[in-house]
Amino acid sequence: MVQSRVLSGVQPTGALHLGNWLGAIRNWVELQHDHDTFFCVVDLHAITVPHDPHRLAEDTLSTAALYLACGIDPKCSTVFVQSHVQAHAELCWLLNCVTPLNWVERMIQFKEKAVKQGDNVSVGLLDYPVLMAADILLYDADLVPVGEDQKQHLELARDIAQQRINARFGSDDAPVLKVPKPLILKEGARVMSLTDGRSKMSKSDPNEGSRIALLDAPELITKKIKRAKTDPQMGLEFDNPERPETENLLGLYAILSGKGRQAAAEECAEMGWGKFKPLLAEAAVTALEPIQTRYRELIQDRAELNRVLVDGRDRANAVAEATVARVRSSLGFLGTP
Ligand code: AMP
Ligand code: TRP
Repeated sequence: MVQSRVLSGVQPTGALHLGNWLGAIRNWVELQHDHDTFFCVVDLHAITVPHDPHRLAEDTLSTAALYLACGIDPKCSTVFVQSHVQAHAELCWLLNCVTPLNWVERMIQFKEKAVKQGDNVSVGLLDYPVLMAADILLYDADLVPVGEDQKQHLELARDIAQQRINARFGSDDAPVLKVPKPLILKEGARVMSLTDGRSKMSKSDPNEGSRIALLDAPELITKKIKRAKTDPQMGLEFDNPERPETENLLGLYAILSGKGRQAAAEECAEMGWGKFKPLLAEAAVTALEPIQTRYRELIQDRAELNRVLVDGRDRANAVAEATVARVRSSLGFLGTP
């Protein structure tokens, strides 16, 4: 039986946090045993906002190591770096030329990031979702596991594939591109900031205390949780729109302790914050410990990491080259004689 194809990626910008893990990477690990999985470190996306050239390579390697530390197995999954596969940039260009400007201008993430950049918004930032569409469409992906925040980008990728490529350049029985579906698992899809339960945990929040990085030391995790914003009410509960911080912290406890929502809600129904926070801190430290240990081993073995990435690049290249050749030909380009 042909397994369905999965593709996803994370940018190598700043330290990966609980949101990246619970919203995305954790789900990849589950999928890799019964799907054909491709996971890339999207370094071309990382330069859509000003970046430090002295850090890009190191951050790319460290993100790849974190994928593996979180349980991505290179024997089951293709792990690679986006910029190592030229077809991403090429397909992005081809898609750019058929994507209406107003489709990208209305992307929420673009508007949010553009505000932060002030006068310094690059064309690349506007183009970010088209590059992401190229990432996905190159691999004929059936499913794209991401957090809730990426849903709009996924819809754009679907629209480009369906309306702008297949409808114009393909036929019903021979579509040029596979139209992907998002896979957004409810639990963990939106991990919120520790300092504001109404905004998502993000790498770009200037306040370090707003997020727990996967490589934070146990004492730092405990300190951040101790300082996390709460509300004056006793007892923790789900589904009270007046208490977004409670929703977030109890939700994290449910996942990180492995107890699930119902058991966590029952356990904490009468609990005060003074008792709850150390419990949550312990659950977080315990959940992250095996990832941190494995990461330290991996990052010391550069040769092995490089081998994984070279192998991943070759496998990714084979699939991506075939797709981009198909698109070139359907758009009518002169093939190399
Ligand atoms: P990024 O950090 O923007 O490169 O995001 C990488 C992946 O993590 C994407 O699938 C996001 O949807 C997911 N993600 C990022 N932040 C969060 C969050 N706060 N909650 C859940 N998922 C997230
Ligand atoms: N835009 C995604 C994010 O910030 C990262 C990304 C780039 C991605 N290309 C992708 C995710 C392809 C899934 C598939 O989270």
